[in-house]
Amino acid sequence: MDKFVIHGGKNLSGTITVGGAKNASLALMPATLLAPGVHTLYNTPQLRDVNTMSRLLESMGVTIAHRDHTIAIDSSHVKNYEAPYEHVKKMRASIYVLGPLVARYGQAHVSLPGGCAWGPRPVNLHIEGLRKLGAEIELDGGYIYAKAKRLKGARIVFDVSSVGATGNVMMAAVLAKGTTVLDNAAMEPEITALAEFLVRMGARIHGIGSNHLEIEGVDSLHPAEFTNIPDRIEAGTFLVAAALAGKKGLKVRVQACTPGHLSAVTTKLEDAGARVTLGIDYVEIEPPEEIRSVNVTTSIYSGFPTDMQAQWMALMSLAKGTSVITDTIYHDRFMHVPELIRLGANITVKENIATIVGVPKLKGAKVMSTDLRASASLILAGLVAEGTSEVLRVYHLDRGYEHIEKKLSSLGADIQRVSGEEF
Ligand code: UD1
Repeated sequence: MDKFVIHGGKNLSGTITVGGAKNASLALMPATLLAPGVHTLYNTPQLRDVNTMSRLLESMGVTIAHRDHTIAIDSSHVKNYEAPYEHVKKMRASIYVLGPLVARYGQAHVSLPGGCAWGPRPVNLHIEGLRKLGAEIELDGGYIYAKAKRLKGARIVFDVSSVGATGNVMMAAVLAKGTTVLDNAAMEPEITALAEFLVRMGARIHGIGSNHLEIEGVDSLHPAEFTNIPDRIEAGTFLVAAALAGKKGLKVRVQACTPGHLSAVTTKLEDAGARVTLGIDYVEIEPPEEIRSVNVTTSIYSGFPTDMQAQWMALMSLAKGTSVITDTIYHDRFMHVPELIRLGANITVKENIATIVGVPKLKGAKVMSTDLRASASLILAGLVAEGTSEVLRVYHLDRGYEHIEKKLSSLGADIQRVSGEEF
């Protein structure tokens, strides 16, 4: 297992390039199961989660050729309809094969994902949605067994706006007979990207980008090419890094991103005192002299993303005054708090609300990564902490950030990956 060793206190400046969106890739890749043939996905990030999805699809008979950030997926010879526990336990997004398999092949056996380090994450909405489309679903021995002859269009109102359930049910509905209406559908850019890819494949989807989707089922789809959207969470992480570890007068430009997807984060950064300039495909940030405390409440898109909550907490740890962070999406997502406290932060958590009393400085320490975004917050805190920090178990980070240490080093950070068994 690798660790990162960070010597804090270096000021960040320069330009950094964002990769393709992890969460979009994890939906686009299984969508290829819906149409036999060779699909090409551009701007696919090289990440552990993308590799996990590749292995899962390959176990079903799909072949995948990688060249830089382009992947060619040949889904002509799918012969196995199972997503085993070994894959799903590594990555919950494996559940995305459920909708395509049952729609195209009439059967799927997918392991239930179970909980996360930071709490339960149910899949009831995926199952209820597919049942409404006519799939027969049983749960047995930790597996979802789904079968269907031909799915039928239905009207579905999601109780909770869910990215995964919207994606899964939408992928199933594109091959159903008749029209499906999805209300309270997720509007996250990754779902929009998935819908656009499905349209390229011949699907008929109306209302893309809204929470009301109408899907006219078609008999078959064809392979397609698609350029993935930029990763808004990676971009947001670098912007917060710059606000935290930059210096007034020095700028960081985050390029190859979609500024419109980042409005909630860039607005909050302005509230915190940063100067933010939005370009067509970049955001430039100049940090404030002194970080102002700014409350955030996570919500569905286009609100503040739960995937940026931990990074925002690292920023608020050094703000002047007290701030409050409320996570309304995942109530237990605070595994980073004890680790940030080890670095000197002053944070208390009650239910889903964290109160952060800004401190003048953080001090380097050994801290443990517990999940993807928690790890990112520890890296950010390490960049600005006095002395040396070690962030252990960085495999979590490799799930969602491609070469984060190289990208941050190019901005002037002193961060090294050290490989070794004992970490
Ligand atoms: C996706 C993202 C994840 C992000 C999350 C919220 C991917 C691969 N992952 O996860 O990074 O943090 O969106 O933006 O895209 N819920 C139910 N029943 C369900 C499904 C969800 O109650 O069947 C609840 C969840 O507990 C949560 C809320 O719905 O409170 C939103 O979760 P959801 O949008 O489904 O998250 P994921 O798709 O798992």
